[in-house]
Amino acid sequence: MAQRIPITLHVNGHPQALSVEPRTTLLEVLREQLDLTGAKRACDRGECGACTVLVDGQPMFACHVLAVQVREREVTTVEGLARRADFQPLLEAFVAHDAGQCGYCLPGFAVAAYALLRRLPRPDAWQIRWELVGHICRCNAYEKLVAAVQDAGRRLHPEPEDP
Ligand code: FES
Ligand code: FES
Repeated sequence: MAQRIPITLHVNGHPQALSVEPRTTLLEVLREQLDLTGAKRACDRGECGACTVLVDGQPMFACHVLAVQVREREVTTVEGLARRADFQPLLEAFVAHDAGQCGYCLPGFAVAAYALLRRLPRPDAWQIRWELVGHICRCNAYEKLVAAVQDAGRRLHPEPEDP
């Protein structure tokens, strides 16, 4: 049996005392030990973005990070973002643009888009495509997703000429 290591992770503002194997990924801890299933397991090898979470505010693929690597860092999942007022305009824009079909990719897109909009408040469509490259939508809803993120930027940072 593999050795287990006691660690404390800070997830959505709360310290979590855990015991993990060295090979355990952050995604496994979130989904299987903390019951936070918003981050999805799709490819499980860093190729699709469905498992995206924020680590110290930066988007990361949770399937590609070991839990022991994020000790003492702040992990924020889509469940944590859902409690924030500045996440709501993004959710509203996703709904308004019907951005998604099966929805499996959406938590990852939403977390990455939230981080993008904090860095680039009103990105254009090409900036969004560039910044969210690596996020795969198997339903091919890309144009609606891009339109929703652009709309969310306008909702969060309105300017006088906006309709
Ligand atoms: S499940 Fe992590 S990148 Fe695909
Ligand atoms: S909406 Fe189905 S994977 Fe994106």
